[in-house]
Amino acid sequence: MAGGKRMIAVQCSCGKRTLRASERKLLRQVDALLTQDGAGSGALIPILQKTQALFGYLPEPALEHISLKLGMPYSEVAGVVGFYSFFTTVPRGRHLIRVCLGTACYVRGGRRVLEAIERKLGIKVGETTPDRQFTLEIARCFGACGLAPVIMIDSDIHQRVKPAKVESILAQYAGKKRVAREAAK
Ligand code: FES
Repeated sequence: MAGGKRMIAVQCSCGKRTLRASERKLLRQVDALLTQDGAGSGALIPILQKTQALFGYLPEPALEHISLKLGMPYSEVAGVVGFYSFFTTVPRGRHLIRVCLGTACYVRGGRRVLEAIERKLGIKVGETTPDRQFTLEIARCFGACGLAPVIMIDSDIHQRVKPAKVESILAQYAGKKRVAREAAK
């Protein structure tokens, strides 16, 4: 889903800074993904999806590395990341919660479900819990309007959600690893 143009920081990738051990490990993991997908420019979006599925977001050193390996200007890679709303350069929680506030979900109580989640987690839309377990976002329609109100956690759809069910739904994800939806594509 395209989300319009967003601005993200663009830095020169030609600097000779020393990589930290954690960054070297990160780049080895990105190299493994590049080996799977090839190095043509058509591989950019799949490699970005897999990189984000791996780390939960797109770290800047990974973007620099991808631009070098694909032979594309960093500004071009950053432009693609900025264009698609499902890409993020900000670390997210282990689990991504998206609450639908499309018309059907809104009129059937989606806003109250959202408020219940905000109260339970102590965060607002766009924020991540301090323990990095959950990030909360809103969505406009999952195409499941007949099941409203709907929330999606990672790749799981929860239907006809009531505020009273929020706590038990979230408890299912405590300590559970994220299902990498993008990596499965
Ligand atoms: S409006 Fe929520 S799924 Fe369509």
